Amino acid sequence: MPSTTPWWRSAVIYQVYVRSFADSNGDGVGDIAGIRSRLPYLESLGVDALWINPWYKSPMADGGYDVADFRAVDPLFGTLADAEQLIADAHEHGIRVIPDIVPNHTSDQHAWFQQALAAGPGSPERERYIFRPGRGPDGVDPPNNWVSCFGGPAWTRLPDGDWYLHLYAPEQPDLNWQHPEVHTEFESILRFWFSRGVDGFRIDVAHGLAKDPELPDLPLLPGPTDGQSRPFAQHPHWDRDEVHDIYRTWRKIADEFDGERAFVAEAWADTPERLAAYVRPGGLHTAFNFDFLMASWDAEDLRTVIDDSLAMLIGVGAPATWVLSNHDVMRHTSRYARKNVARWVPNQRYQPEGDIDLELGTRRARAAALLMLALPGGAYIYQGDELGLPEVEDLPEADLQDPIWERSGHTDRGRDGCRVPIPWSGQSAPFGFSPADASAEPWLPQPANWSERSVEAQTGDETSMLELYRTALQLRREHSALGDGTLAWVEAPAGVLTFRRDPGFLCVVNLSDEPYRLPEHTATLLASGPITDGLLDPDHAIWLQV
Ligand code: BGC
Ligand code: MG
Repeated sequence: MPSTTPWWRSAVIYQVYVRSFADSNGDGVGDIAGIRSRLPYLESLGVDALWINPWYKSPMADGGYDVADFRAVDPLFGTLADAEQLIADAHEHGIRVIPDIVPNHTSDQHAWFQQALAAGPGSPERERYIFRPGRGPDGVDPPNNWVSCFGGPAWTRLPDGDWYLHLYAPEQPDLNWQHPEVHTEFESILRFWFSRGVDGFRIDVAHGLAKDPELPDLPLLPGPTDGQSRPFAQHPHWDRDEVHDIYRTWRKIADEFDGERAFVAEAWADTPERLAAYVRPGGLHTAFNFDFLMASWDAEDLRTVIDDSLAMLIGVGAPATWVLSNHDVMRHTSRYARKNVARWVPNQRYQPEGDIDLELGTRRARAAALLMLALPGGAYIYQGDELGLPEVEDLPEADLQDPIWERSGHTDRGRDGCRVPIPWSGQSAPFGFSPADASAEPWLPQPANWSERSVEAQTGDETSMLELYRTALQLRREHSALGDGTLAWVEAPAGVLTFRRDPGFLCVVNLSDEPYRLPEHTATLLASGPITDGLLDPDHAIWLQV
């Protein structure tokens, strides 16, 4: 059916973490040719687009979020020609491609930073970054008290005495967005990739580009805080109003190209209002809605998040985007595997407590998938969500690669547990991730029992997570009530979420401890588990035709 609604208002976007998706050359690291070889799988899954984590030239101090050259592909992943071929092939399969762009910082190996190091204090080369003299006698103290998101101070001192700012690892110096050359360079990078056919960009740390020019100290907040926690309002480097000027320009650039190119912002903001500011008319198209991911497994909490998000986004004319997992957070099967799922505190790493019950987590993950895919707007699937992969919480310490592990002084194991290469087939590692004659093992070890969760094992098994996703995505395409639009809540007892979407669609999620008698309906479209005697069990969800 031809539609006049732009694709990004209702798209299901599949996140490909390149290093862990599919390895074509057997070096144990996923690559672009690997993604190309799996396009038929992605098409049959029924996704509309791929968001691909950074594939640019990088020393990989932060998994590619330390970019040395935005116009080159890292040899680990392939070549620029491979990327162009992937874009073309994906389009053949009816799938759009959205790479990551990382405008807050570069790698310390980027030509600009190398020039800045060579040119010395006070040079114009240093003005593209944020260099400052230190405080205290001989400048031995950092210029202010800002902290790195990965732990430790956000400043590193050079042998020549200057300090430079890095909100992430020391290998990721922050760019100075008050410098006109930084603007023109990124505008040129956007055009470079748009003209190669990409359908949009995911903007990394979109809320971090504008810094208070005075670089004031962070006020010390009471309580156990590292200075990163909320409130972001009036924060010297998060979510400042000036960032929106940058994105208004970027929007104009996207609009220069045909075919509805679209941005999605990784923006962390205090409130749905602040988030909505990124997607006002003339601004970006969409922004991840992390409030949904941070919610506990609780009907009231979820309903509040859904209502607040929809109200604010619809208010500015933007669609919502729902997300349960990504490469930075604990996989939701494991989050939900704790009896009481704690609400997440923004900008603090999620370290859940309590016994793990993966069957419970899987039941809830199935229900959450049906909830998410029935909500108005677009949705994100992180590779492996559709296989019900859990977080690998027991990776050997020697294998941990996320800079958070070192920077936190070995107190935080970081994000490797959600980045383990995914299982495609077979009975033993690498489970089809690498070719059988691979010269290297996967860059992170896969659990031995992942044969049960491979694409091969789940394909055709109607009770599997994979077939649940496949059916849900197919129904989502066919049912005119799903995708962009609105919802209407239907009265239900405490702990049960019921909403209607017109025409004729009802979603029921039971988060209570009691079975719930299904409301009147004409047909069951899809259920997250077996229904007996018209009862929806706890931690289950169902799509009904009414
Ligand atoms: C990305 C992370 C990355 C950080 C620094 C984030 O928001 O999603 O994976 O470490 O930005 O670029
Ligand atoms: Mg490889």
